[in-house]
Amino acid sequence: MINLTGQKLVREYIELDTVDSTNRYALDAGRDGLLVTARRQTAGRGRQGRLWFSPRDDNIYMTITLAHPDPRLCLVAGVAVREALVSLLEGASARIKWPNDILVLGRKVCGILCQTRGSIAAIGIGVNVNQTTWPDELKDTAVSLKLATGKTYGRDEVIQAAVQALDQWFDIYHAGGFEPVRQAFLKHCHCAGETARLEDGTPCVIRNLTPEGFLEVEVMGIRRIVVSGDVRLDCSGSRHA
Ligand code: BTN
Repeated sequence: MINLTGQKLVREYIELDTVDSTNRYALDAGRDGLLVTARRQTAGRGRQGRLWFSPRDDNIYMTITLAHPDPRLCLVAGVAVREALVSLLEGASARIKWPNDILVLGRKVCGILCQTRGSIAAIGIGVNVNQTTWPDELKDTAVSLKLATGKTYGRDEVIQAAVQALDQWFDIYHAGGFEPVRQAFLKHCHCAGETARLEDGTPCVIRNLTPEGFLEVEVMGIRRIVVSGDVRLDCSGSRHA
């Protein structure tokens, strides 16, 4: 059981066993204040039209709906979920890769997919919790909380931590605007000075996060704003002044 008292984000909790996608389910429901979780997804959705690996029980698949869709919600969610995961990681650190992947030990522990339908935004969160093996195409890039700490987690403790942090950070965002979120993002991101590649393979240096939530990069001395898509971090981890 998760405890929903004292928070304002979730007014209704739907716990499913199996669903194609908790995002699809929540968007079809079409109301805000909904938390949908599932033990397994048969067609979990990832960013950029990818599928999200969603085997039974080992991981968290959850969606929260909000009214008033806004492109910066997905960055608020990334900042919040990173904080939630750090509270469970027993000293291991976690960083955000723009826009909202959460990486531990340089590998992806959590992905977030924000989708909008009409006046509803669905924030879908997938966390690798107790998973220890992955298909070949994911085994070099994925990690779980369990692999990072050696500990086995209860699903509810992870969902609870995520809801609590999301509630706090959406409060901060609604009361104080994007700047506090932006500052937290910059403090905890793979960010300023790191070398990376844009989606088309162009090498760049990451420079900043704009007040709109876009990524500012430098390509051959010229500043560019990346509005959407993926940025691949350079594995050498080299930093530029
Ligand atoms: C990504 O590609 O990094 C985003 C992955 C988001 C996966 C989560 S799992 C719960 C929710 N339901 C979905 O179908 N996708 C999101």
